[in-house]
Amino acid sequence: MIEPEFERLYEDMGRNHIQPLWRAESSVMPSEPAPKTIPWIWKWSQLSSLARRSGELVTLSRGGDRRALGLANPGLGGFPYATATLWAAVQWLNGGEVAPAHRHSAQAVRFMIDGEGAYSTVQGDKVYLERGDFAINPPWHWHDHGSEGDGPAIWMDGLDVPLNNYLDAVFFEQGTKDVQEVTRVVDGSVLKYGLGQLRPAWEAPCQEYSPLCTYKWTATEQALNNLAKVSASPFDDVAIEFTNPHTGRPVMNTMTAWVQMLRPGIHTKAHRQVNSAVYHVFEGRGATIIAGVRFDWEQGDIFVIPSWAYHEHVNASKSERAILFSIQDTPVLVALGKYREEALATNGGHQETKEVFDAERTLAHR
Ligand SMILES: [Fe+2]
Ligand SMILES: [Fe+2]
Repeated sequence: MIEPEFERLYEDMGRNHIQPLWRAESSVMPSEPAPKTIPWIWKWSQLSSLARRSGELVTLSRGGDRRALGLANPGLGGFPYATATLWAAVQWLNGGEVAPAHRHSAQAVRFMIDGEGAYSTVQGDKVYLERGDFAINPPWHWHDHGSEGDGPAIWMDGLDVPLNNYLDAVFFEQGTKDVQEVTRVVDGSVLKYGLGQLRPAWEAPCQEYSPLCTYKWTATEQALNNLAKVSASPFDDVAIEFTNPHTGRPVMNTMTAWVQMLRPGIHTKAHRQVNSAVYHVFEGRGATIIAGVRFDWEQGDIFVIPSWAYHEHVNASKSERAILFSIQDTPVLVALGKYREEALATNGGHQETKEVFDAERTLAHR
């Protein structure tokens, strides 16, 4: 029971928009991260059919200019955010369609899931994209996309939209023309910088973002296969990070992107990190155990690992590799001096699996 003077004190504070820290300390400063983002998975069977249906019903126009299915983490209060800092979406373009030119201060990356004749033009630089290609879109660069093939082009978008909004740093502008003029040699950034370790001698290194706009799948796959001959991480197996070839740093200031190959039979050890990540299953099937819950995944699925949740990956197949693409907000945490990671020290580095993820049961217990 609160004594009357205390009650009056707290009421008077409330009227003046003041809160006593001694009554709210644990929510303001818990002993460790308590993310609102929850571990979640979106199944490709649902994602692909909803994207296809959207392709049949929804036309693209200025104002509603991207047919992107934003992933809304159920922990985040109805916002279309995959994690507290990362936006992720599946975007669908019908054959012959154009997603009109616009630009924004949010930083963006794309990972191609499918499609022939898909292209992306970023600031007059047009590149063709195939399955497995990774493309970046630096902030405030004009971009339009299209599919010159007969079939749809499908990719995963990753943006720092939630962070950008939280920081009140949002700018957006619609182009005056749907399709930008192509002002450079097609696939020029791949031709100029695609070998990574070599750059045009007369140009200054590009520090802010990667000058290479598209990382081709053939090069990514070769890097994975080469690395597998040398070493692997106990937590992520054969994992590579896309980097700015001029600086070795992540391709964006606010997020990084990885591709990892889980070799047949691999079960990694568990660790946890102060970051959040969105994973797309590019190939194969397996499971990721997140905070003691097993998330079974297969090609096309997208799942989320929140901050400070133990996680470990499993490829149970004896013969087939599994490949995961991910975006992670790590560069922000590192830049602000807030990044930590920790291996699970008990049980041989493996979590006890308490249950298999069930969406309805998870929501019912919230
Ligand atoms: Fe955009
Ligand atoms: Fe990890």
